[in-house]
Amino acid sequence: MKRKVLLMGQSGCGKTSMRSLIFSSYRAADTRRLGSTLDVEHSHVRFLGNLVLNLWDCGGQQSYMDSYLDKQRSQVFSTVGVLIYVFDLVGAEGGEEGIEEWERDLRYYKDCISALYQYSPDAQVFCLLHKMDLVDKSRRAAVYSSRVKELRRKSREVAQAAANARAAADGFRVHCFATSIWDESLYRAWSRIVQTQIPALGVLERHLQQLADTCSASEVVVFERTTFLVIAKTASSSAAPLSSSFNKDSIQPSSGGRYIYDEDEEGLEGFRDTQGRVASTPLGSGFITSSTHPAAHSETVAFGTRAAGLDPERFEKVSELIKNFKLSCQKLPAKSSQCEFQAVELKAPNFSAYIDSLTSNTYIMLLVRDPSIQMASIKLNVQLARDHFE
Ligand code: GTP
Repeated sequence: MKRKVLLMGQSGCGKTSMRSLIFSSYRAADTRRLGSTLDVEHSHVRFLGNLVLNLWDCGGQQSYMDSYLDKQRSQVFSTVGVLIYVFDLVGAEGGEEGIEEWERDLRYYKDCISALYQYSPDAQVFCLLHKMDLVDKSRRAAVYSSRVKELRRKSREVAQAAANARAAADGFRVHCFATSIWDESLYRAWSRIVQTQIPALGVLERHLQQLADTCSASEVVVFERTTFLVIAKTASSSAAPLSSSFNKDSIQPSSGGRYIYDEDEEGLEGFRDTQGRVASTPLGSGFITSSTHPAAHSETVAFGTRAAGLDPERFEKVSELIKNFKLSCQKLPAKSSQCEFQAVELKAPNFSAYIDSLTSNTYIMLLVRDPSIQMASIKLNVQLARDHFE
């Protein structure tokens, strides 16, 4: 049975906008024309060829929400693989209206996850704190962490009330993201969501690792062809990535033992020891971000600290840029559009990048830092790897 991806949240929070941006090649500005969704809009989004996401965009008007939680409860909440609950941050800067809105949202959210525990206890839950662009830059981190804290608390309450052993033991970890249709944050959240649905992601990353080693590429990233979401990424075990490269084993947690990739109570991700302390590195301690998918058991982990200036959303920025570039190509006059975007070659003072199609459903990007590596050899390796990855 196909598992559903439920997209829920109050009316106007931006559910259809994000779906249209990611899956239907809308531009952010086009979403202003979207009308309210009536009841549930079902779509089967083909992803990576065989993987079909059974997406349910649930209209958020109050009467619909009440009906999902009551009359349509079992129909909506059974066989769910992922629940994405979208919170509108309009009014998050304060004011009574904003607080009322947030509290109403929290009540619906609690009701939705109670229903989820009842009908799909194994479902994954993602909370998107959306329209972050409307929150003043200086207040974003504070708004995000206080909301995440509250969401985790509510989620735990539901888990305990439902006496769901697994969820209560895990502290029921919801995955939270700050998002906006106006920047790459939406790609980051959706990349992580779809990665949870891809079977054998670890195998793909092992093969990518081999390719990265063969090409002496610092980092290798695979994007899905139509959405340009990041599917997998890895770093060569020999070449340093664009920031710094450390072997996981070379960094010892102060308490001994292993690091795990985790989020803290306030939603900050990083490698932590078993006591929840962040890892410290030669670049200093602090927020550390993985450049490989945390679920993959890849031996080499490339990471950098915020202090070192490595942008954890660098690949999602590429997603957003290339997707917009593709859309621009499609808008060219008929004759020129025949030469659609195929590959991109980029030369910067301290690295080169090459983006090309890998399989019928994916693009690959390789980043090379070593100036002695010729672009022609990278291209040839990608060409030779195609059959293997197909
Ligand atoms: P229902 O279908 O009624 O449930 O609403 P919805 O959640 O599908 O909302 P929709 O996608 O129709 O978006 C409502 C409005 O929010 C549109 O005008 C969008 O342009 C706007 N919007 C969506 N995402 C963002 C965002 O990240 N930032 C800002 N500023 N506006 C956004």
